[in-house]
Amino acid sequence: MNAFEAPRAVEGVDETFNAFELAPLTPVIGAEVRNFRLAKVDESAADQLRRALWRYGVLFLKDQHLSHAELVEAGRLFGSELEHHTFGKTLADEGYPEILVIEQFESDRSKTTTDIWHHDVTGRKHPNLVSVLQATEVPFGADTMWASASAAFEWLPAPLKRLFLDLDIDHDAVYMALRHDFGSKEVLDKLSQMDESNSHPAVIRHPETGQLCLFVGNGYVKRIKGFSAEQSEQLIKIALDQVKIPELQIRHSWQPGDIAIWDNLGTVHYGVAGDLRSRKRLLHRVAAWSPNVSPSLDREQALAELGP
Ligand SMILES: [Fe+2]
Repeated sequence: MNAFEAPRAVEGVDETFNAFELAPLTPVIGAEVRNFRLAKVDESAADQLRRALWRYGVLFLKDQHLSHAELVEAGRLFGSELEHHTFGKTLADEGYPEILVIEQFESDRSKTTTDIWHHDVTGRKHPNLVSVLQATEVPFGADTMWASASAAFEWLPAPLKRLFLDLDIDHDAVYMALRHDFGSKEVLDKLSQMDESNSHPAVIRHPETGQLCLFVGNGYVKRIKGFSAEQSEQLIKIALDQVKIPELQIRHSWQPGDIAIWDNLGTVHYGVAGDLRSRKRLLHRVAAWSPNVSPSLDREQALAELGP
């Protein structure tokens, strides 16, 4: 099915939401939540936010300027377990171990690891399900892009769908750190002691939407099981080329106080580096995950759905 035929495309305002104004931004991915503050959210509005997220993949809320406590509460709308990042800088000293500080200076220009297409922390057995990211300072041009992982799968030709449905991929945090040249010895030692290397199917069944999603990125992905390094690289390139199709993407130019909420299994994202000479990059992220949800696939059922 062509992604434009999917039932999420609505032009104007999606009237099925009334706790806020919900404006879809493309036919495939992304919506803006308007006339709403992401603090002290009641259960009805929280339910609508979650519904909107599963439908549109990434939500944008402008001019929020949440406090640290409010940002943590916003993360809890999407799951009871919040990530405590194990090697990244957090606000643990201020009482918020759940808040990851994403901070880059001009001197970090060659070390950024965000300018690759990836899902976050896929080396884990239970990767993040939903991320809530607030911008505080953003360099000129440091946008973020998201692509729909379900549309990426939908837009594959049928023989490639069958091929990817059959694959499992090794995700490895140490490999990621070495490959992207950001691991100090201390970080590498820490990563190798943690359970941050797991295998996941190359296509997963989304736990909320039931859609099949291409689950391939350029971060933790080390090798397709059973393939040579060269064969694996070629197949991964096909998957990455798929998420680079502009029709499947949305790009957000940040203003301080903006928030993006994204579905980390149903979308893949890319942090455009921007010009760190103009100002530093400072964002704060909380992420919800669940010990009950791992990327998984009912392979026989998925193949049966594709038909002969
Ligand atoms: Fe990321």
